Amino acid sequence: MFCIKPVLLYYLCLGCLLLPIADCLLQVGAGLADVTGPVCQVNTMGYANAHLSGLHTRLFSRAFAFKDSNGRYAAYAVIDIAMISHLIKFVVGNRLAAETNGRYSEANVMLSATHTHAGPGGYNQDLFLVLNTPGFERKHFDYIVDGIVQSILTADQRMAPAKVFTNSGQLYNASINRHPHQYLLNSKAERAQYADNIDREMFLLRFDNAETGRPIGSVAWFPVHGTSLNMSNRYVSGDNKGVASLLMESHFGDGYVAAFSQAHSGDVTPNTRGAFNAKNGSKCDSPIVKTFDCRSKGPGKDQFESLMIIGRKQFEMALKLHQSAAVSDLVGRDPQLATVYDVRDVTSEAFPTPWTGEANNRDQNSPPLLRVCPAAFGYGFCGGTVDGYGLFDYFTMGRRQSSVLINLIRDIMGPVTPADQACHGTKQICMNAGRIMWSDIPFMSNTVPTQIMRIGQLFITALPAEMTTMSGRRLVEHLKRTSGFPKNGKVQLNGLSNGYFFYVTTEHEYNVSNTVMMKLS
Ligand SMILES: *[C@@H]1O[C@H](CO)[C@@H](O)[C@H](O)[C@H]1NC(C)=O
Ligand SMILES: *[C@@H]1O[C@H](CO)[C@@H](O)[C@H](O)[C@H]1NC(C)=O
Ligand SMILES: *[C@@H]1O[C@H](CO)[C@@H](O)[C@H](O)[C@H]1NC(C)=O
Ligand SMILES: *[C@@H]1O[C@H](CO)[C@@H](O)[C@H](O)[C@H]1NC(C)=O
Repeated sequence: MFCIKPVLLYYLCLGCLLLPIADCLLQVGAGLADVTGPVCQVNTMGYANAHLSGLHTRLFSRAFAFKDSNGRYAAYAVIDIAMISHLIKFVVGNRLAAETNGRYSEANVMLSATHTHAGPGGYNQDLFLVLNTPGFERKHFDYIVDGIVQSILTADQRMAPAKVFTNSGQLYNASINRHPHQYLLNSKAERAQYADNIDREMFLLRFDNAETGRPIGSVAWFPVHGTSLNMSNRYVSGDNKGVASLLMESHFGDGYVAAFSQAHSGDVTPNTRGAFNAKNGSKCDSPIVKTFDCRSKGPGKDQFESLMIIGRKQFEMALKLHQSAAVSDLVGRDPQLATVYDVRDVTSEAFPTPWTGEANNRDQNSPPLLRVCPAAFGYGFCGGTVDGYGLFDYFTMGRRQSSVLINLIRDIMGPVTPADQACHGTKQICMNAGRIMWSDIPFMSNTVPTQIMRIGQLFITALPAEMTTMSGRRLVEHLKRTSGFPKNGKVQLNGLSNGYFFYVTTEHEYNVSNTVMMKLS
């Protein structure tokens, strides 16, 4: 194929403007496979203690496989689960490498979760994340892995020259910030750059078969938690994004695959009426609240109606964007693929801070260095959030003081040295998770995978965490300022990908934040 020769590439692919030279087009295939797993005798992942006893919607892995004109491959899958475990990513990568003769591997496959809180758990390798299930569920894990592998192999088999369209728009009334006080801690100057305390952009990628003109599928990114169903729900469900996918797929039919992906949803809830005290009905809107009594409410009369409203809003927006999408300059006619995948124990990392005005947790050297600490939960973590209250009435969200009794229990599990506490700054450590091992299984591992998948000028940027609105914006700005970043390039954040280490906040937010493990921005 002539397109393989880079020297000829530019010339020949200019020809694509006039003639549909299939060899110059991106090849795209879409695939879908079931990953539902057990619907009873197991707890949900996301909320600490909900026993499942039925099915609301099935759960799926939705995959897209890509091949560029230079013969490079990549695959992207969105799965209806709470988070990807690094173990899933690792095993899927190895299985694919074996079954495709190395065309796909951990490095060029991105796995991302919709963050539904209504799916069964038990698939994480970190001890802390399987405590509530309770335990690791081998059959469930295997079923998820099989489903993801199957969806990617199907996508690969269906690959055909495709036309790529993109579009974006603002989706209103489908989300609010659930920690508005925390957001307000960011500096006025920084907040002044943005219209609101959440981002509402939905960004859509649409793929059509270039020969038949038939739509193959789409991916729509929009930041909002999968918590339309609340802690009292007992049914397995894909929550709002799962419903949006099913609506879009039944609209198009014919094997169309509609993925709805997460973005920077760390502080974004679909429960648009806010949180109320269950005992006296007053709003839970102080910066330090006992979430134990707080229940957040969606737009509907009950949680299932709220789920359908938020799911339908995402579907309708995606459909609108689909219908008015233009052939993408961003992705281009002959887009090249590239993936960067980095997996490392981050606890010895130190890097100069790009941010000003944030003084915590720095070395005194110049330029100031930020150090990454071993994973640890702060006191506030045990307080939960307004979307899912904590286990004990004792804790408050945003708590900073420590307690002698809890510190005693904490130190029996894994002692906290003064250096550990100093490293975490203002966060009072309530569980030194990154330093606790149970035989050879870590409570929380300190290994963090990060990945960027480039399609033309689109940079899908994956973090194994939940970025708050402002920390996500900072990451986008930071990447765009990186030397060599194309002027017309776009960064699309994709949280909840490839692994899981809880939340990423800004340092101002971190000072009172409830569930931060490490801070990055
Ligand atoms: C959002 O909801 C409010 C209140 O129901 C309504 O007034 C407003 O028009 C809605 N905005 C959009 C863009 O739909
Ligand atoms: C409701 O209860 C909360 C928590 O106990 C309290 O802070 C709040 O003031 C109460 N509101 C009213 C209206 O009594
Ligand atoms: C969940 O939603 C239902 C309404 O569907 C409500 O009655 C219940 O109190 C909510 N529970 C929690 C824990 O928020
Ligand atoms: C965080 O809180 C500490 C202690 O209150 C304060 O000294 C520091 O300036 C705060 N940092 C930021 C970035 O707000």
